[in-house]
Parts: sequence; C-alpha cells; structure tokens
Amino acid sequence: MNLRFDEKVAIVTGGATGIGAATAATLCELGATVAIFDRNVEGGQSHVASLIASGGKASFHVCDVASESNMKQAVEAVVQQHGRLDVLVSNAGIQTYGDAAQTSSELWDKTFAVHVKGCFYATHYSIPHMIEFGGGAIVIVSSVLSSTAVTNSAAYVAAKHAQVGLARSIALDFAKKNIRANAICPGSIDTPMLRWSADQTGAPEKMLATLGRMHAVGRIGRAEEVAKAIAFLASDWASFITGTTLVVDGGLILPTGGMGFQESGIGTEKA
Ligand code: NAI
Repeated sequence: MNLRFDEKVAIVTGGATGIGAATAATLCELGATVAIFDRNVEGGQSHVASLIASGGKASFHVCDVASESNMKQAVEAVVQQHGRLDVLVSNAGIQTYGDAAQTSSELWDKTFAVHVKGCFYATHYSIPHMIEFGGGAIVIVSSVLSSTAVTNSAAYVAAKHAQVGLARSIALDFAKKNIRANAICPGSIDTPMLRWSADQTGAPEKMLATLGRMHAVGRIGRAEEVAKAIAFLASDWASFITGTTLVVDGGLILPTGGMGFQESGIGTEKA
C-alpha cells in the first residue's frame, strides 16, 4: 500500500482554482490521471494545460456540478476517456452570506444546489463505476463550519453540515463494496473564494490579518496544505479510514471562544 495513484483515475470538482486546483496538481504529482470538472472553462483548461506541461495526465470537463445532466455526462466521459474511476474529490463550492431571516429562498437553493446537490450528483454517478472497478475513495471538501457556525452564513453553514452527513451515509452504505468516504474540514485557506470574501469587507488586508491571528499557528492556510490531506484520505494509506472528518485548520477551532479569548491574557501568571 502506498500514497501513489499510478494507474488510478481521479475526478476533482471545482478543480480550476483554489483547493481543487491544488488537489488536482498534488494527485497528478502522485501519478493519478486527473479529470477536472468546473464551470470555469478558461481556468480549468489552462490549469489542465499546465498540469500536462509538467508531465501530468489530466483532462478538463466543463460541468456545472448543480446540473444533473452535466454531471452524468462528465462522469461518463471520464470513464470512456480514461477507462476507470477510482477517486472522487467533491470540492466545488461558492460562498454565500445571509442569516436565516434575510436569506432568500433562491439564495438558499443556489447554495444547496452547488454544495449539497453537487456532491450528491457527483457521488451518485461515480459510485456505480467505482463498484464496477473494484472500489474507490471519495473525499468531500466540507469546512470547519460543518461542526460550528459563523454569523450571517446560514445557508453555507447548513450546506457544510449536510455534506458531512452525505459522506457518513456513503461510508456506511458502500463499505462492503470497498468504497471509503470521508470529509475534509478546512479552516481559512488563501484561495480566490477567501480573497473574494475579504474584498466584500472593504478592508481585505485587515480581514485576512485578523483571520490569520484566529488560527493557533498564526496564519491562514495554503491550498496545497489542504490538497495533501485530501490526497492522504484518497490514498491507500487511509485504507482503514472511512466515515470520518479530517480537520485541516491550523488550530482554528481548538481554543474555546476563539483566539480572542487567548489574546485577553487569560492563563498568564504574574512573574
Ligand atoms: P475557489 O472559489 O477558489 O474554487 C472553487 C471552484 O469551484 C472554482 O474553480 C469554481 O469555478 C468552482 N465552482 C463553483 N461553483 C461551481 C459549479 N456550480 N459547478 C462547477 N464548478 C463550480 O474556492 P476554494 O476556497 O478553493 O473552495 C473549495 C471548497 O473548499 C469549497 O467547497 C469551499 O466551500 C471549501 N472551503 C474553503 C475554505 C477557504 O477558506 N477557502 C474554507 C473551508 C472550506
């Protein structure tokens, strides 16, 4: 058993930028043939071109994960083109804001369509092929917000909770078919999504610096650091790990009450 993915085929949804792009690169480096699914055609195609230029095996499939017909077509295209399917990283996501009173029904549906239905469609169409080829590994990219909450993010937080439920259900239902399913729960990671959120505040550098301080390690994470954890869970090294969550958050949720509690000076002793 090893960490490599030689002869294996992996789908990464939302692989054009951010955590998905880093995951596609890491899996390629480890020998996988990687199929990127994204609605960002330019970003997806140029990332695939750079993976191939670096010696990797990769293909791009334009796909809105919230569209059942797009997903069905894209998964079938991967199996036709690459001959098998071993790994699914269900990562595509969007950030949305609003509390439960403000969030419109449309925004709720849009958030759930990408995060929850998108994961459902990806797993729904991938699992039968994984079974056909003897098993597989599914990693759903959720968030630390699957076990806690932040203000003004009701739909996003609820969707992230739901993703973990899906991973757990798949783990139970398909364990005997040699399919493992787990969820990754990142803290704040420096990606276009986080930069977009920071821009919304009007003081992006201040927000990023504050976020950095909230993580016990004193900084936000890099997409590559999440990608490595995803690769581990997708690999044979994680052969006895299923139905669980792996928190990759630089110690963000560790301190009760957040880092501000620590900054208050509590626990210091007079010399
Ligand atoms: P990102 O915005 O850099 O990348 C998301 C990718 O998903 C983009 O390439 C985008 O085009 C694609 N995408 C969005 N909607 C899509 C759709 N309907 N169909 C196909 N592709 C679609 O974001 P990032 O930060 O890399 O996020 C990846 C995942 O990680 C998301 O699920 C996000 O919720 C999660 N996450 C991110 C954190 C962060 O701090 N960046 C923290 C915790 C979780």
